[in-house]
Amino acid sequence: MLALIDPPMAPTSFIIIAIDGGAASGKSSSSKILADRFNLLHVDTGSFYRHITYELLRMGVAHTDLPAINAALATLVFTTRLNGRSAQMLIGGKPAGSEIRGQNVNEHVSHYAAIPEVRHALLGYQRGLVDVAKAHAFRGLVMEGRDIGSVIFPDADFRFFLHADPAERAKRRANEGQTDSIAERDRIDSSRKASPLTCPTGAISIDTTSLPLAQVVEQAATLIAGKIG
Ligand code: CDP
Repeated sequence: MLALIDPPMAPTSFIIIAIDGGAASGKSSSSKILADRFNLLHVDTGSFYRHITYELLRMGVAHTDLPAINAALATLVFTTRLNGRSAQMLIGGKPAGSEIRGQNVNEHVSHYAAIPEVRHALLGYQRGLVDVAKAHAFRGLVMEGRDIGSVIFPDADFRFFLHADPAERAKRRANEGQTDSIAERDRIDSSRKASPLTCPTGAISIDTTSLPLAQVVEQAATLIAGKIG
């Protein structure tokens, strides 16, 4: 029987890498290093959900009030600016502040992110970042989140799912000096109906519990380099 070998990609083809995983699973650090190594646009979609959450809280819109959410979403205009290699989403022309990493947003973000209308509002924006990456001559894009390999780019060239023991992840977050109920966010993110956090079928799963960051990156980079040269 003939073995089917994936042909190498043309040097000019644009690559899309999806990295999903729960909080403090190592997504952000590894995505940023891969972006540097392969000249990719780095996209942290968690920051988008955090920014929208901050904005809706500021507008006094409760996550239980769907008509108010819809009315508020209709007023939000999303644009992009580059911050180094990372895409930064602006809402109404304004970038997110450090508050999006604060306790209030940590507590609320999963509730807003579970609302299909909120997810829908970001869908086209996230996919449109391919054009932004191309316009800035990036080799491709690495996007991290919860539903990238399952919903946003199910046909991505590479799909990784990072995971680690909850105790290890809680320790990492505490070391960052953050008050963050990871277990509660995981519970809401994994059990919601719209785009739940899950390892997409066919994605490469990497357990980062006792794997140093450099080795996580090496595993992913070796696979990518093998295909794109
Ligand atoms: O900082 P951390 O890795 O814990 O989370 P994040 O990536 O900043 O995402 C914050 C929250 O946004 C998650 O807990 C999810 O509720 C939501 N999120 C999502 O629903 N879908 C994504 N693609 C990214 C984030």
